Amino acid sequence: MIVAIDGPAGSGKSTVASALAERLGFLYLDTGAMYRALTWLARRDGIALDNGPALAELALAHPVSFSAAGTVEIDGQDVSAEIREAEIDRLVPVVARHPEVREVMREGQRSLGAAGDSVIEGRDIGSVVAPTAEVKVFLVADEAERARRRTADRPGVQADTLAADLRARDERDAVNTQPAEDAVVLDTTELGIDEVVEAIARLVEERRR
Ligand code: DC
Repeated sequence: MIVAIDGPAGSGKSTVASALAERLGFLYLDTGAMYRALTWLARRDGIALDNGPALAELALAHPVSFSAAGTVEIDGQDVSAEIREAEIDRLVPVVARHPEVREVMREGQRSLGAAGDSVIEGRDIGSVVAPTAEVKVFLVADEAERARRRTADRPGVQADTLAADLRARDERDAVNTQPAEDAVVLDTTELGIDEVVEAIARLVEERRR
C-alpha cells in the first residue's frame, strides 16, 4: 500500500509522515530530501542551477539513498544536516522546477516506493508520482502556524526572517505543488502530531477493510 502525503512547507508533512510510517511499519520516503540532496551536490560540483539537463544527468549519475537509520546520502556522503541549511531552502525550488530533473526524481521515487508498503511525502506524490496510491492526504495549515513551526525547527534564526522566507518559498514552490484531486485535505493548524497521525491511520484502516 502507498500512503501519499503532500503539502506546503511547515504543514507538518515530515513529522507526520515519519511517525505514521513507524506506527504502521511502512517504509518512509522523504522526496523533498532527494531534491535537497541534488541541490547540495550541484553546488559542490559547480553545476549551474538553471541547467535542467545537466542537473538531470547529475541526478541519474548520483542517486540519493536513505540509510536504515534515516540519514540521507548522496555520492557516498551523509548530507542529512547540510540539506536542511537555509541556503538549500532558498535554492532547492529552482532545481526542483526543471522538468528533466522531476522526471529522473519521480522514477527514483517510484522504484524506492515499490520496495514495500510506503508512506511517501512530497508535493506531487498523490497526483504524479503515485496516482494510484490507496490513501492520499494533502496537509494544510495557517501561514502563522507554519511559520511558528519553522521557528521551532530552526532555533537561532529570527522569527520574522523565517516568516518572510516561508512566504518566498510558498511562491517559489507553488509551481512544483500539485495536489491530487482525490486527496483528503487535512487542516493541521489546530491539531497535534498524534491527532493527524491518528486521522491518517484511520484512513489507512478504512482502505484495508
Ligand atoms: O518538503 P521540503 O521542504 O523538504 O521540499 C524541498 C523542496 O523540494 C521544495 O522546494 C519543494 C520540492 N519538492 C518537490 O518539488 N516535489 C516533491 N515531491 C518534494 C519536494
